[in-house]
Amino acid sequence: MAFPIHRPRRLRRSAALREMVRETTLAPSDFIYPLFVVEGRDVRRPIGSMPGIFNLSVEHAVAEAKQAHALGVPAVLLFGIPNHKDAQGSQAYAREGIVQRAVREIKNALPDMLVIVDVCLCEYTDHGHCGIIEGGHVANDATLPLLSQMAVTCAQAGADIIAPSDMLDGRVAAIRSALDEVKLTEVPILSYAVKYASAFYGPFREAAQSTPQFGDRRTHQMDPGNVREALKETDLDIEEGADMIMVKPALSYLDVIHRVRERVDVPVVAYNVSAEYSMVKAAAQNGWIDGDRLMLEILTSIKRAGSDLIITYHSLEAAKLLG
Ligand code: PBG
Repeated sequence: MAFPIHRPRRLRRSAALREMVRETTLAPSDFIYPLFVVEGRDVRRPIGSMPGIFNLSVEHAVAEAKQAHALGVPAVLLFGIPNHKDAQGSQAYAREGIVQRAVREIKNALPDMLVIVDVCLCEYTDHGHCGIIEGGHVANDATLPLLSQMAVTCAQAGADIIAPSDMLDGRVAAIRSALDEVKLTEVPILSYAVKYASAFYGPFREAAQSTPQFGDRRTHQMDPGNVREALKETDLDIEEGADMIMVKPALSYLDVIHRVRERVDVPVVAYNVSAEYSMVKAAAQNGWIDGDRLMLEILTSIKRAGSDLIITYHSLEAAKLLG
């Protein structure tokens, strides 16, 4: 008979014991902090649906990156929001585009901070789609050279990692060969390999002004019911040259993170997306939950599921609590 020889409570008796036997721990070095960079000077505009997160002009983005760095967060993920949007998303790959300038300024100020760029056209097109439109649809192959050009201009501006988030087919291979062609062979690709068509991106679209003006993203982002397809996307992107694999969103997709982790040997990254953040903030503001505890519990679950790194809007507050 197991009882009373076995008493699992013995190892839970004190905080020190619990801490010593904890299987999953969080550290500031687990986090990647997203920043929304806008044009102009002295802009620090709160995003209504994401309390604590702002649209930042470049110098404020540098200041925010400095804060993250001081707290031990190793990387930022940049989203550029240009004033001028057009059908081709031309500001995405302009040498002096907003995201290229932000990369340059952050690397100048903080050479040790890793700067990752989200490569996608949706923040840069007037129609809000992830690629150019032909016959009412996102044209896959015609968009690949533009994504490649965006990757190259960002890497030339000093980006440490390129993170394509568009979910078009073949873009990892296209970006890899474009980078290699200009001798940027050492710049890694973090592929948003497994990205679902999700309602959890709602607040982000306010932050990045990237809501599609017609239709949706279901013809390129994945159906939430699928997990075998996630493994297929993962395999394809690794074959095409991805150095790291991302799963997104995180919280409703912990099983997917776990399956991808078991499948591959490369680092796995999870994106704790905008609505996952906003729901915690809204409930905390109402006094319905303990926001700090819930935040750490959610981040722990994402890591326990198998992700090595977590992209999260909670980076600064979580790093403060953990530091
Ligand atoms: C596309 C992109 C999106 C997010 C990250 N990259 C939006 C989308 O696919 O519609 C969402 C991130 C979030 O919700 O926090 N550039």
